[in-house]
Amino acid sequence: MRRILVTSALPYANGAIHLGHLVEYIQTDIWARYQRLRGHDCLYLCADDTHGTPIMLRAKREGVTPEQLIERMSQEHRRDFDRFAIQFDHYYSTHSPENRQLAEQIYLKHRAAGHIRTAVIQQAYCPHDQMFLPDRFIRGCCPVCQAADQYGDSCEACSATYTPLELTDARCAVCGTAPVARDSEHLFFKLDDFRPFLQQWTRGGHIQDEVANKLEEWFSSGLKDWNISRDAPYFGFAIPDAPGKFFYVWLDAPIGYMATTLSYCQQQGRCFDDYWLNNDADRPTEVYHFIGKDILYFHALFWPAVLHGAGFRTPNAIFAHGFLTVNGQKMSKSRGTFIDARHYPDTLNPEYLRYYYATKLTSRIDDIDLNLDDFIARVNSDLVGKLVNLASRTAGFIHKQGGGRLAAVYPDDGGLYQAFVAAGDEIGALYEGREFARAMQAIMRLAERANQYVEAQSPWKLAKQPGQELLVQQSCTVALNLFRLLATYLQPALPLTAARVAALFNLPALSWDARETPLFDQPIQPFSHLMARIERATIDAMLLAAAAPPPPSPPPTPSVVVPAAPELLPEIPYDLFAQVDLRIARIEQATLVAGADKLLCLTLDLGAQGQRTVLAGIRAAYPNPEILVGRLTVMVANLQPRQMKFGRSEGMVLAAGTAGSDLYLLAADSGAQPGMRVK
Ligand code: MSP
Ligand code: ZN
Repeated sequence: MRRILVTSALPYANGAIHLGHLVEYIQTDIWARYQRLRGHDCLYLCADDTHGTPIMLRAKREGVTPEQLIERMSQEHRRDFDRFAIQFDHYYSTHSPENRQLAEQIYLKHRAAGHIRTAVIQQAYCPHDQMFLPDRFIRGCCPVCQAADQYGDSCEACSATYTPLELTDARCAVCGTAPVARDSEHLFFKLDDFRPFLQQWTRGGHIQDEVANKLEEWFSSGLKDWNISRDAPYFGFAIPDAPGKFFYVWLDAPIGYMATTLSYCQQQGRCFDDYWLNNDADRPTEVYHFIGKDILYFHALFWPAVLHGAGFRTPNAIFAHGFLTVNGQKMSKSRGTFIDARHYPDTLNPEYLRYYYATKLTSRIDDIDLNLDDFIARVNSDLVGKLVNLASRTAGFIHKQGGGRLAAVYPDDGGLYQAFVAAGDEIGALYEGREFARAMQAIMRLAERANQYVEAQSPWKLAKQPGQELLVQQSCTVALNLFRLLATYLQPALPLTAARVAALFNLPALSWDARETPLFDQPIQPFSHLMARIERATIDAMLLAAAAPPPPSPPPTPSVVVPAAPELLPEIPYDLFAQVDLRIARIEQATLVAGADKLLCLTLDLGAQGQRTVLAGIRAAYPNPEILVGRLTVMVANLQPRQMKFGRSEGMVLAAGTAGSDLYLLAADSGAQPGMRVK
């Protein structure tokens, strides 16, 4: 049994978890779950990264202490992760006593060994806010191309990099005051002291090949000393022997991996030294950090040097992944594709996203794209069409014709089951090597074979012939056993579904080793619905929610009572509006619907687009529907048809008002023609 520690990067406490983050947490979680499924002792640890200027300023703006803010964010983060079935063994915080103690210890060790030097440097200081300003909190004109409103470190227009003091007309992003240059003494970590160690380490198979090349560039452009101190006011840990100075957030953040381990070990009675000193010679501990490509410098250079210099073990590997794009483009607030985890709607199964990411993830650092149409197609075709279908088409017959039991002996399946068992070796190796996309392909190829088997047997046909009960039970027994193997292989990606599949077979869990023997001569539970197809409308609802501005803080209690008028709905991007096909319609017929006291049945003429029948809840306003005949109104012509209790409705007419009799059907001027597009 291997002893493994895996981490994901610690998310900043000053922002919500979004679908981009989830690439990493899902990737790590799948890998950790795979290791546990194979019986290894695998710890998955993470924490909130809580320190720094942004969190301090945000707390101030919200009128709370940083401690209160990080506590609230931690709860939100945990809730989001939990929803996506990310199974941390411990989720902690960098603002913890363990982290303070370890950060101090590591710093003092480096200081004693001469790896820290001090120097006075000049930085931008806001005289109004009385603080030094991080680059991101200064805005001004780019000194190279003069583009306005650029950050203090680089220009988004011409990509030039510079120092904040070089900006023309620089302003403090908080208060708008022009910053001044001010001297301050800082502490520097002498990274170049570790050059020989780092060069050897980076060639030791600890990083991906593509990353190794990037590192060579960094080595050749020189390893600069790293400023690890920040001036007060700062939300972080005070540096023990430097009054008024705090550790830069990026010094204590990775130490948070260790502090989280320490907190876990204290809770669970485990040995911290096994992990970070690698003291157990009989059973060495493997340590892996999953990160995004943007934070490689910190993890592949600073972090190993910090650990090594302080006498701790270094990680076995850094696994970097690429960035998420949505529909081929960078996630963007204005395009409505910056989707927070909490906007992933309740109607969309979180395992769909886990599966989709799995079909895209490799061991490389290429970006991965969430194409929403492809997402719908993939989930509907693979999970619903190939996986769930296998059980939903066969489990019922076990109850109808097999007495609720699998066949008394496992039938001859032509070697199918054994072939599925054998495929586990390859699938396991793909999981181990983080080639999840290929693992999913291999599993889906098996699913196709299983479906071919079921098609060939067609138990639904056999079931109609008298005397074929045994054959029906046998073919369904084979299908369900293959289904169980598929669910076992998918378990790291689809843990919740796998648990439900286990319950179907009365098992506490699906196990990798137990897969070798087929199940027979035992009862199964009635099959319950596992997954539904994704509808486009659900995705649209998600985009709509994502595009909405964050909920405003509660308004002050009004002193005058005003009649309730509905609030404006949140803004939506133009693209979303453009998808609504509004048309002029002529009301050809309008009739009451028997038994439905709120509905009218309208027959609408759309000119060249033909006729539509719409059930509209407007009867209270138009008790004599015949007065509507001949009128021109506006309808949503591309709404998905809906099957209602009283018939099918193929669209929606537009009306103003609240409800009941206070409702007014929109009318068009007489020149308008049925079928015209409304813009
Ligand atoms: N707090 C630092 C990490 C400290 S680790 C000691 C940080 N936080 S973060 O919240 O910005 O990002 C957390 C992780 O999510 C990082 O590994 C980052 O690369 C990843 N991602 C953030 N946005 C992402 C995408 N759009 N796509 C994929 N991963 C992304 O960095
Ligand atoms: Zn200011």
